[in-house]
Amino acid sequence: MNEKSPIGIFDSGIGGLSVLNHLVKYLPNEDFIYIADNTYFPYGLKSSNEIESIVARIGYYFEEIGVKTIVIACNSASSKTNFLEKHLHTKLFPIIEPTAKKALLTTKNKNIGLLATKLTIESKLYDKYLKEVNLFPLICDKFVTLVENGFNSDSNTLKIIDSHLSTLKNKNLDTIILGCTHFSFLFDIISNLMSDVTIIDSSLSILDDLKDYLKSNNLVNPQVKGDVSLITTKDKKSFINKLEKIKMNIYDVKEINL
Ligand code: DGL
Repeated sequence: MNEKSPIGIFDSGIGGLSVLNHLVKYLPNEDFIYIADNTYFPYGLKSSNEIESIVARIGYYFEEIGVKTIVIACNSASSKTNFLEKHLHTKLFPIIEPTAKKALLTTKNKNIGLLATKLTIESKLYDKYLKEVNLFPLICDKFVTLVENGFNSDSNTLKIIDSHLSTLKNKNLDTIILGCTHFSFLFDIISNLMSDVTIIDSSLSILDDLKDYLKSNNLVNPQVKGDVSLITTKDKKSFINKLEKIKMNIYDVKEINL
């Protein structure tokens, strides 16, 4: 592994592409390898034990191909950071802690809503980093499926999202965390439904930390323009359809068995 090695990044599906999109703009000189682990989608409904072996195998694969860091572009998988750190040697960039820190700096009235998967909420990691606020968690696994299946902003989608959010409406929130990278794609819908609330998107949380780490460890890729490869662990054709629906730049796409 050296400064020319790629950066590994993964999620259960297309959610983490919201992180990748920001990274490609922010660090255009870096090479990225993105894994959409569609075989085990959705992560958020797996048990705590199941998810450990699922994410460990992605980590081992990245170490085998020699990435220089691993971005965990998924809150559900980030809840297993301690476990992964015990099994991997590569520097990890999970997204829960930096997202929570950003929310803490943002809130004034200390009432924060958290939209996330069952696994993320039950891990209580956000609670750990947000001890001094009133945290209102809301399990929203349905939103994950909506996004992965290529939602339209039709009345049915809006109804599903609005009926979930209605339970948060009388809580005097000034901040809401999108604690699942899939929800980035719903940013506009959610912010329209929750006006007067600042939305913290977990997809943006690691940009500066990663850039600083690469600089201070002499790992900045000296090239001008980097490459992006996308890997799915299941059904390349359906993955490409999803990329088209979210108007993602279609980079090189491979399917591998992991
Ligand atoms: N995008 C993921 C997250 O941030 C996982 C969603 C899922 O697979 O359930 O939690």
